[in-house]
Amino acid sequence: MRYFFECGNFFDISLAELSAVFEAYNYPKDSIKRVSNTILLIESNTLTKDILNRIFSRLAGFIRYGQIIDDLDSFLTPYLERKKVVYGISVLGESDIQTKDIERLSNEIKRGFRSEGISTRFLLPKKKELNAAQISNNHLLENGFELCIFEGGNGKMYGATLGIQDIESFVKRDIQRPSIDFDMGVLPQKLARVMCNLTGLKEGIIWDPFCGSGTILMEAAVLGFDILGSDIDLGAIESVNNNIGWLSKEGMTNNIKYNVFQLDINNIERRVVKDLKNTGINAVVCEPFMGPPQRRVVSERDAEELLTSVRNLYVSLFSVINEISRRGFKVVLIVPSYKSKKGWLTFNISQLVGKKWDILNRKYTQGDLKWKRINSIIARNIFILEKR
Ligand SMILES: C[S@@+](CC[C@H](N)C(=O)[O-])C[C@H]1O[C@@H](n2cnc3c(N)ncnc32)[C@H](O)[C@@H]1O
Repeated sequence: MRYFFECGNFFDISLAELSAVFEAYNYPKDSIKRVSNTILLIESNTLTKDILNRIFSRLAGFIRYGQIIDDLDSFLTPYLERKKVVYGISVLGESDIQTKDIERLSNEIKRGFRSEGISTRFLLPKKKELNAAQISNNHLLENGFELCIFEGGNGKMYGATLGIQDIESFVKRDIQRPSIDFDMGVLPQKLARVMCNLTGLKEGIIWDPFCGSGTILMEAAVLGFDILGSDIDLGAIESVNNNIGWLSKEGMTNNIKYNVFQLDINNIERRVVKDLKNTGINAVVCEPFMGPPQRRVVSERDAEELLTSVRNLYVSLFSVINEISRRGFKVVLIVPSYKSKKGWLTFNISQLVGKKWDILNRKYTQGDLKWKRINSIIARNIFILEKR
């Protein structure tokens, strides 16, 4: 069987996320092939639709997934049993396919169904591809199909969508959660999910020592991890309690264990380190303080000052993690880069953590795991570390 996964805006991050989730489930990573900057192809005789659906529902870096269609006629044949078929056609990624080509294909499909007495409704994409709302509001995947066309290595490929990202639930957690503190800097909900997935774990305890209002903790909880959160700010602890309570009331978590407490990472008592060690934490996932928000390109000196102050937090963080972690312990964290007049400046995390840690980024992708919008002054570099 061959399947396609359509990546979101950050190809390398999506590829790393899917590879890490495959690893979590012990599925072969080498069945994932890159077709273009948008599409990953999965070829496997052991991965069923149910398994892929379970994997897809954990991911945040993908828009849709589906099955590759080798022969369009055979794909359409089962729909001849129906009285009415709703269908849409989407072009994924860069392609020379024009709207008129889609209309031509759509008319051909329509004529085929009509000649068998089947009524049809065609959904025209607003841009080149149907969006999640069009697909779910029209119950497209139940009442018919979405045909996807994209450039493969040797010409065009066709696929039938099996699932589309549940954007609504990400948006709901982002904007409907009871507590949020924008002054602290809030992680995008999807990035928080991606980071939990990059641990390559599917269960266990995740600790966020800079939890803020709990964006990472919420996504970890939805994925079924037990969660531990701490922050220097007492207000953040209250926010997390509100948010996790709300998640549970909304039915988005299922019997997870959680604990959240106030902690200054620069000033930890021995007994707390001992408690953390005994907790059996499997991974730390966090975005430490990124420094104050920046509106314009910073001078080289300011960037160096910002980096020095932020770097100290990472030094403190690793002095604790080094004590509480065993071999195989994972850390997924963000290191900032500042846009200065001399280009992007950051600090070297590999030097900071020393020889006890492997950086796994290259295991998953050749590119940097950088989450950055055009015009950003601060970029987020994601690192995946594993204790040797
Ligand atoms: C970028 S925010 C984290 C945001 C969080 N990931 C979210 O999306 O809600 C950084 C957090 O680090 C906390 N912080 C700063 N210095 C700290 C320290 N020394 N120890 C522990 N937490 C600290 C801040 O209170 C803030 O909540």
